[in-house]
Amino acid sequence: MDNDLSKIMEEAKARLAEARTQAETNEIRIKYLGKKGEITSVLKQMGKLSPEERKELGKAANIAKSKVENMINEKLEQVKQAEKAAQFKLEKIDVTEPGKDIRIGTKHPLAIVEEEIVRIFQSMGFSVYEGPEVETVFYNFDSLNTPDDHPSRDITDTFYVSDDILLRTQTSPCETRALLTKDIPFKIVVPGRCFRRDTPDATHSPMFHQVEGMVVDEGITLADLKGTLDEFAKQMFGSDTKTKFRPHYFPFTEPSAEVDVSCFKCGGKGCNVCKGSGWIEILGCGETHPNVLKVGNVDTEKYTAFAFGMGIERVAMLKYGIDDIRLLYENDMRFIDQFK
Ligand code: DAH
Repeated sequence: MDNDLSKIMEEAKARLAEARTQAETNEIRIKYLGKKGEITSVLKQMGKLSPEERKELGKAANIAKSKVENMINEKLEQVKQAEKAAQFKLEKIDVTEPGKDIRIGTKHPLAIVEEEIVRIFQSMGFSVYEGPEVETVFYNFDSLNTPDDHPSRDITDTFYVSDDILLRTQTSPCETRALLTKDIPFKIVVPGRCFRRDTPDATHSPMFHQVEGMVVDEGITLADLKGTLDEFAKQMFGSDTKTKFRPHYFPFTEPSAEVDVSCFKCGGKGCNVCKGSGWIEILGCGETHPNVLKVGNVDTEKYTAFAFGMGIERVAMLKYGIDDIRLLYENDMRFIDQFK
């Protein structure tokens, strides 16, 4: 039996030498010292022995037990240290390494210009109103007094989803939406994305952005429209900027006009930006047609309104001297990074 014990101890020692983890070491503890462990089973056989032999073996077994226990505890400590060291090595941070360069994003030029336009109108008391990009024919055309045979309704000009649903071609349908849902009087600007069936080239894109504006109140006249847009032009393009209203036609306004601003590059002398004319066209506008107000359930005896709409791309291209609209959608960081 003594022999058995020393064999068991040798074996335990050899196994411990090979153990690499806490789990492996604990398994060895169970194998030798557990309830069904090898030293325990030697002790269990003592019943068969004489009292003297039992005493002797009991002593030897207890010594073996505590030796194995010590070996295991020692090993456990070693393994724990080794595991910790390995983990530290893995998690070590080398504070002398150069830092990673974190790229700070920049605003897209269209976002910059849209925010600037909206901010200027907000400073004049306008609030922001938004509507859906997928629109009905009713809001996009019918409600805006657009004749049935107007060319803009053609499938060659407009993306139709079905007979009466389309991708809005302008932000103007939000005029009707606002008239039908908001309390009057109101002053709104509507920034948003629009779609037209244009073949992309340097100045055309099938997707583009507009800002619509509308003011409805008692006694609104063309003078209010001119004053508002004049103030906008001065804030947007510089305090010396002049505006010029040219008669035009839009179905939803009467009278209608296009607005030119004096060239912010040459001040009106003539240059490449204004193509020598000294003036740059920036928007369409007018007094809202009574038919539009009627669709919006507005009492046309009491209220009048004006509206305007401008292309954000056009303003951005003029302001930043961008000569190809497609640059605005390619997300080439070398381009976008220039607008910090
Ligand atoms: N919706 C017009 C367009 O896309 C722009 C426009 C012109 C809007 C006159 C208006 C307006 O509100 O009164 O060409």
